Amino acid sequence: MIIKRQTGTQIHVPVLPTEVLDYLNISTDGVYLDGTVGLGGHAALILNQLSPKGHFIGIDRDEEALSYCKNLLVGYPTPVSLFHSSYHTFKPILDELGIDTVNGILLDLGLSSLQLDSPERGFSYTVDADLDMRFDSSQEIKASDIINHLPVMDLADVIYEYGEERRSRLIARNIEKMRPLRTVFNLIEAIRKSTPPSHRDRSMARVFQALRIKVNGELDKLDSFLNSFIDRLSVGGRIAIISFHSLEDRIVKHRFKDLAKSGDISILTKKPILASAEEQKENRRSRSAKLRIAERIV
Ligand SMILES: C[S@@+](CC[C@H](N)C(=O)[O-])C[C@H]1O[C@@H](n2cnc3c(N)ncnc32)[C@H](O)[C@@H]1O
Repeated sequence: MIIKRQTGTQIHVPVLPTEVLDYLNISTDGVYLDGTVGLGGHAALILNQLSPKGHFIGIDRDEEALSYCKNLLVGYPTPVSLFHSSYHTFKPILDELGIDTVNGILLDLGLSSLQLDSPERGFSYTVDADLDMRFDSSQEIKASDIINHLPVMDLADVIYEYGEERRSRLIARNIEKMRPLRTVFNLIEAIRKSTPPSHRDRSMARVFQALRIKVNGELDKLDSFLNSFIDRLSVGGRIAIISFHSLEDRIVKHRFKDLAKSGDISILTKKPILASAEEQKENRRSRSAKLRIAERIV
């Protein structure tokens, strides 16, 4: 499934589509929750398999993505409910819908191609923009607040912990010297001053990842969700989580292991599933994707 802009260029290709569908093992009358519905790529694939008795619930923090998704998902015979929220607060959403448990949950973490390619949102280090990086534009804290106001050692810790960047202290000190930073290219200049050319691209990717994780509280939300989803997944229901970096994947792996130890779930993927060579060639985003799946057993 390829999502196209009105001009005809594709804007988002869902990763691991066949693997997600196979493992979710959709029951046609079931209730499915997509906690990161994004541009509706996986959603449309799931809806293709649902009957009018089923129900699809989509959540996203990004209102722009949701309004795109709303248009894309009209016309399916299955009821579709979309919510502007964070997936870690999905319980009140199910309560509002009068739904006790769901048959399957999907989280496709990270950011969509639309977000990465939006020049004004500051997610990409290749396009100059305000230092924003918010998934939810109604959130107060932007990347610029963190970059310009966090004490320098705390900023270094963010870059080290969430970006796993060795030169975190030097980068943070150079950022401090250049404050206030206004744009993506200001931040790039601070990174450039701190890194040798051979490592620069990787360092940029790591710093941008770190700031994005911090701005959006990504790891805390994932942790909170993983500590609370189990009682709202039906017995026999499956959860599929696609992560895009080792910090997320580690959290998913460990929480699944704990739940397996306590006898709540069976892990269906001993090792994470990666995209095939062919998918990796066609869809760059899939190169870092790791899919883990588990089934609730009691
Ligand atoms: C990789 S995209 C999902 C793409 C989607 N699976 C598709 O096929 O179109 C990730 C989405 O997760 C959203 N997101 C990130 N953190 C979130 C959170 N805590 N709660 C809800 N949505 C979140 C982002 O706004 C983005 O739209």
